[in-house]
Amino acid sequence: MKGLILSGGKGTRLYPLTYTRAKQLIPVANKPVLFRVIEAIRDAGITDIGIVVGDTADEIREAVGTGQQWGVQVTYIPQEAPLGLAHAVKISQDFLGDEPFVMFLGDNVIQGGITQLVREFEEGDYNAQIVLTPVKEPQHYGVAELDDEGNIIRLVEKPRNPRSNLALVGIYMFDHHIFEAVNSITPSWRGELEITDAIQWLVEHGYRVRPYIHRGWWIDTGKPIDMLEANNRVLLEMDHEIRGYVDRDSQVDDNVTVEEGAEIINSVIRGPSIIGKNTRVVNAYVGPFTSIYHDCHIEDCEIEHSIVLENTRIEDIPYRIEDSLIGRNVVIHRSPIKPKAYKMTLGDNSKVGLL
Ligand code: G1P
Repeated sequence: MKGLILSGGKGTRLYPLTYTRAKQLIPVANKPVLFRVIEAIRDAGITDIGIVVGDTADEIREAVGTGQQWGVQVTYIPQEAPLGLAHAVKISQDFLGDEPFVMFLGDNVIQGGITQLVREFEEGDYNAQIVLTPVKEPQHYGVAELDDEGNIIRLVEKPRNPRSNLALVGIYMFDHHIFEAVNSITPSWRGELEITDAIQWLVEHGYRVRPYIHRGWWIDTGKPIDMLEANNRVLLEMDHEIRGYVDRDSQVDDNVTVEEGAEIINSVIRGPSIIGKNTRVVNAYVGPFTSIYHDCHIEDCEIEHSIVLENTRIEDIPYRIEDSLIGRNVVIHRSPIKPKAYKMTLGDNSKVGLL
């Protein structure tokens, strides 16, 4: 089998972070979501992986390279515009050939990986396998309606009145018949070739599409709240380890990771949380569900349930920072310069919640 990762898209719901960073490269528990996707595919025994890239192609190529660091071989497939998931399949036909493949959206995080899913697809006699999971707001996803025996009746992309609460997870398995489908459908109201329509086409033309109900957690990291949620889940499940330096005046919980070169000085770190490489935490409190990335400086402040990206400095803040997603090279500090006022340089679409 081959792997196909979709890593185009503009990530508009994560502005301003995604003005300057591909959304798939934003880290969850200090590892970019895209790297987690590559590892999940590799762990399922698949080493030939295509990555569909768009505007952020250069950045993705720079981060992933040839795939050698994961023991896989990566081929980049440029998509001229985000014209839909089925369009991405269409332009990947040369790469995929006649082999069955797993398609994985580069911003999805799923509990337990996909090894079992891939095995069941390989062993079964299906033309496609989709992954479904119950969600609270199905209108934001592709939604499946099943009959009493669990067979697919209908799939609808972002329905206004969903007929079930079963959302399509961004992980799909197909054999070559999917090319007939993507070449037969037409763009939806949002101007995209929808994979949901292509799968519906397979069902209508008598192909065997197996719905697999996923019972663990799954997160599409489209919005800041989803990034924080994914961060919580991964921090809770990962194995933690202290590889950096913790001084005698600090208190660090067992479920905390301190990466190489990090220094914790006179601080309290509550788990689950992670402190990145070469980051310094001084006279600070880092609360549960916090990921501080590499080369940051956190001093005389309190932060909890947040993600901080690399090379950011947070210093001398009188109130605790919570529920925040803070980008790269950000500086948050108390300014000694008069007048005593909030002084900010914020990118477009930034959000600041003041006391
Ligand atoms: C896409 C699919 C949708 C699926 C979702 C999962 O939506 O079209 O069917 O439920 O991914 O992440 P999009 O991210 O394009 O809105």
